[in-house]
Amino acid sequence: MTDPAYLLVGDGREYLLEPGAEFGTDLGVIEVPEDVSGGDVVETHLGETFEVRELRLADLFDHLDRTGAPMMPRDVGLVIGHAGIGRGDRVLDAGTGTGILAVAMGRAGAEVTTYERDPDFADVARENMRIAGVDDVVDVRTGDLTAEVDALVESEPDFDVLTLDTGDAADVVSRAPELLVSGGFLAAYSPFVEGTRSVVETAREAGLEGVESLETIQREMDFSERGSRPSTAGVGHTGYLTFARRP
Ligand SMILES: C[S@@+](CC[C@H](N)C(=O)[O-])C[C@H]1O[C@@H](n2cnc3c(N)ncnc32)[C@H](O)[C@@H]1O
Repeated sequence: MTDPAYLLVGDGREYLLEPGAEFGTDLGVIEVPEDVSGGDVVETHLGETFEVRELRLADLFDHLDRTGAPMMPRDVGLVIGHAGIGRGDRVLDAGTGTGILAVAMGRAGAEVTTYERDPDFADVARENMRIAGVDDVVDVRTGDLTAEVDALVESEPDFDVLTLDTGDAADVVSRAPELLVSGGFLAAYSPFVEGTRSVVETAREAGLEGVESLETIQREMDFSERGSRPSTAGVGHTGYLTFARRP
């Protein structure tokens, strides 16, 4: 694993920087020491101070380079909690996109093999894994998972969890029984009902058990002088998550 990056926070500003980096800000030039660690304080050449923080998932969500729309933390939490992803699990994931889900699963202790069909997106995702400090446990492969399934079933099956966030997820769901260990989980995200229905029907046809779809809606609470109630801003819908298990 290469050294992960850090968050430098000061005077309402945040910068994602790596050990040894030199960076110009309107508060002066920051030189990040090679041996920097969380909790340190660094000064710009103008004497302004920045606190060094270890990157947490929320920081990575805010600061990593984005390609495809990253999975929202609320959905990441549901995937990890529902499928019980943890240390030692082998996870097969697609598409990598920005890589937020892959980062979170790697940080939870899983070994993740993730496929991204766009070569430029895959390069960004590899860099994101390095910044997040999970490049030793997350293998970003350039390729279309649907096209790679045969080879995976042949050479490296027995995944504990299959996570899908692609438009053609149902095509891979049909092969889930060959990819997963007994009791292994499928978790498929879809922003639309149509994609969700297709995953549900395919999962049932494939003989997976406990097929269930959850809509993720999150309501923020407002606390004001007048009273407390759910925020009236936005619906809070992100998408649908379908879970199922191999018998
Ligand atoms: C919505 S993004 C995934 C976001 C990701 N889960 C995250 O947390 O950042 C979807 C990505 O899947 C890729 N993709 C779509 N179909 C694919 C397939 N069959 N195999 C591999 N990648 C695919 C797209 O190029 C896109 O980058």
